Amino acid sequence: MSATPFKVAVTGAAGQIGYSLLFRLASGALLGPDRPVELRLLEITPALKALEGVVMELDDCAFGTLAGVEIGDDAEKVFDGVNLALLVGARPRGPGMERGDLLEANGAIFTAQGKALNAVAADDVRIGVTGNPANTNALIALSNAPDIPAERFSALTRLDHNRAISQLAAKTGSPVTDITKMTIWGNHSATQYPDLFHAEVGGRNAAQVVGDQAWLENDFIPTVAKRGAAIIEARGSSSAASAASATIDAARDWLTGSPEGDWVSMAVQSDGSYDVPAGLVSSFPVTTRDGDWEIVQGLEIDDFSRSRIDASTAELAEERDAVKGLGLI
Ligand code: NAD
Ligand code: LMR
Repeated sequence: MSATPFKVAVTGAAGQIGYSLLFRLASGALLGPDRPVELRLLEITPALKALEGVVMELDDCAFGTLAGVEIGDDAEKVFDGVNLALLVGARPRGPGMERGDLLEANGAIFTAQGKALNAVAADDVRIGVTGNPANTNALIALSNAPDIPAERFSALTRLDHNRAISQLAAKTGSPVTDITKMTIWGNHSATQYPDLFHAEVGGRNAAQVVGDQAWLENDFIPTVAKRGAAIIEARGSSSAASAASATIDAARDWLTGSPEGDWVSMAVQSDGSYDVPAGLVSSFPVTTRDGDWEIVQGLEIDDFSRSRIDASTAELAEERDAVKGLGLI
């Protein structure tokens, strides 16, 4: 076992996603059984007592890969020397709150955390944002961390990617392992575009295998894009275990590499590829290796896909303009 623990910060650690995420991280789901992990857990002061209880449970699991746990409410202390920061904690929308209020409340969190990471994180830090609105929160964090390269930040669309794989597998009667080259474009919101025109089922083009444009438009896309709302409706609270699992999938593939011959979906800062306005944090098909990512180039975008991508990136541009107006970026 490598002696140096890999330091992982998790914010919102006493929340629902945290309750699934921490145990997977501690048991080696990120880097395997041979790499010890040290957890650095950030919460707001009133949630620290609950977090102490979660830490007791982590202790009680006696995970061989867990090298230590520190908790606190001071971002500069908790983020000190971290190699990976998973920014999960965010203020949920409350009664009577408008979208702008949410952007403002979360903006304050992600400005402060971007600054703290900038000041104290390890030189090799990677930052994954799960807390909503994830894409724009990532944009705020990276804009407040000028010394950390922007490509070290990403927002989570892996859950949408996994949802799309699962729906396509069910439709085609295939195992999920037969589905490759899935792409989520745009925002982690109802405007996202899950793309079947480049996906494959057992190596064959998914849109052709399905052969049913009505299903694609009226069933597949809305089911994937509105899955978060369907889970809230059914469970009474938002997806947690699946969000934690996707957070791990995304971080693991980023650090260790996407599967050979396949790609994954990640929201990263656009360089203008596929005419997504440069600067927006938007989901793309990417390949990853050793903590770096590259947008898959050369995919043909037809008019249908173009209009879907444009609609989602227009929403991202509106969110960017709103946080700019609030002085957060
Ligand atoms: P939750 O309300 O159960 O937990 C959030 C936690 O964040 C709380 O414990 C809260 O105390 C903490 N928190 C608030 N402000 C904080 C701050 N400044 N610093 C540190 N911690 C802070 O919510 P949850 O179900 O765990 O979800 C967390 C976030 O993830 C939400 O924004 C949710 O919408 C989002 N989410 C994203 C995806 C995705 O795919 N991107 C999927 C599911 C949920
Ligand atoms: C999800 O996709 O499950 C979450 O982002 C929850 C939500 O608010 O849609």
